[in-house]
Amino acid sequence: MSDENETTGSPEPREHGDRIIGTPSPATQRNLIVEDDEAPAPAGAGAELDEGEAKRAERVVAALFVLAFFASLGFMVYFVGWSGRHGGMHGLERTRESNMWLGGLMALAFLAMGVGVTIWVRRLMTSKPIIQERHEFSATPDDRSAFATDVLEGAQDSGLKRPLLRRTLLLAAAPLGLAPLFLLRDLGPLPEKKLRSTYWGEAVRKAQAQGRRGVRLVVDGTDRALRVSDFAAPGSMITVLPEGMEKDVPHEDVLTQMAKSVTILINVPADQFKPAPGRENWHIGGIVAYSKICTHVGCPAALYEQTTHHILCPCHQSTFDATDAAKVVFGPAARPLPQLPLAEEDGYIIATADFPEPIGPSFWERG
Ligand code: FES
Repeated sequence: MSDENETTGSPEPREHGDRIIGTPSPATQRNLIVEDDEAPAPAGAGAELDEGEAKRAERVVAALFVLAFFASLGFMVYFVGWSGRHGGMHGLERTRESNMWLGGLMALAFLAMGVGVTIWVRRLMTSKPIIQERHEFSATPDDRSAFATDVLEGAQDSGLKRPLLRRTLLLAAAPLGLAPLFLLRDLGPLPEKKLRSTYWGEAVRKAQAQGRRGVRLVVDGTDRALRVSDFAAPGSMITVLPEGMEKDVPHEDVLTQMAKSVTILINVPADQFKPAPGRENWHIGGIVAYSKICTHVGCPAALYEQTTHHILCPCHQSTFDATDAAKVVFGPAARPLPQLPLAEEDGYIIATADFPEPIGPSFWERG
């Protein structure tokens, strides 16, 4: 490393350079390095503010901190009031309105805090240059005690001794510290048992209330109930949902319910199909239904290999055997795809109950 002091560009080698840290003063002197101990301080450095001006600056800062406090308070009041009025996060318009108010109030709180702190630093704190000596790394006891003195002096000069500033700063910071707790409410209500069942269960109960054995299956994207004869070709696979779902489920819930209920229907050649014990009558001559939600982390297991009868999840290549209760034959998934019990009624394929276990990632088995 060259002996030349790079910061100053001085050709004279310096055994120990001095570096000023902190905001440079508006001095005309271009070098940041104090050449010797007698060098004049930059213009304005160490100047004491006139007490009248300091008081005015103090009041402005305090007003900004109070504004930050009220903006934070407004954030919390709006959040609680808005949630109470609308009972949760539903609807694009309401969410947009809430984001605008919550974001605006929080931005105002941070802006007022930031401007207040900036004025405090620029107007009320000392502008004395602080010199950091670049000697060897370990400090002598004298250096340490000088450092401690500097810190204490800096604390004195910072204006923290002004009780109005100190108190209003604490006032402004307190609600901001609590704001993240309020944001937790944006996660919505606890799911309770909702994730353990799907709309299939409710649809079956409704169908049974009308004297039928179960709910018919419709091909995703159509309203047409599926007959056994419509799905007679071995090796085929389609995506199905419960009949009447779009009419019965409230508009804001329909996509959620569809995402949970989405099911694949596969016609496995009857001679290759191995029903799981206790589920011998859950298929119709090899027509079998499994949840389409991968039990790894929930991607749609949407690929089907006709020759091997394997269901593939494209996300991380989990592979399930459609002939053998959708057991995992490869990949990171830890459990089979849940199976939907099927039967035939009046020539239609029906589901007679919900999935017997939670669909989706294996977490729910452990929950
Ligand atoms: S989500 Fe299906 S393998 Fe990972």
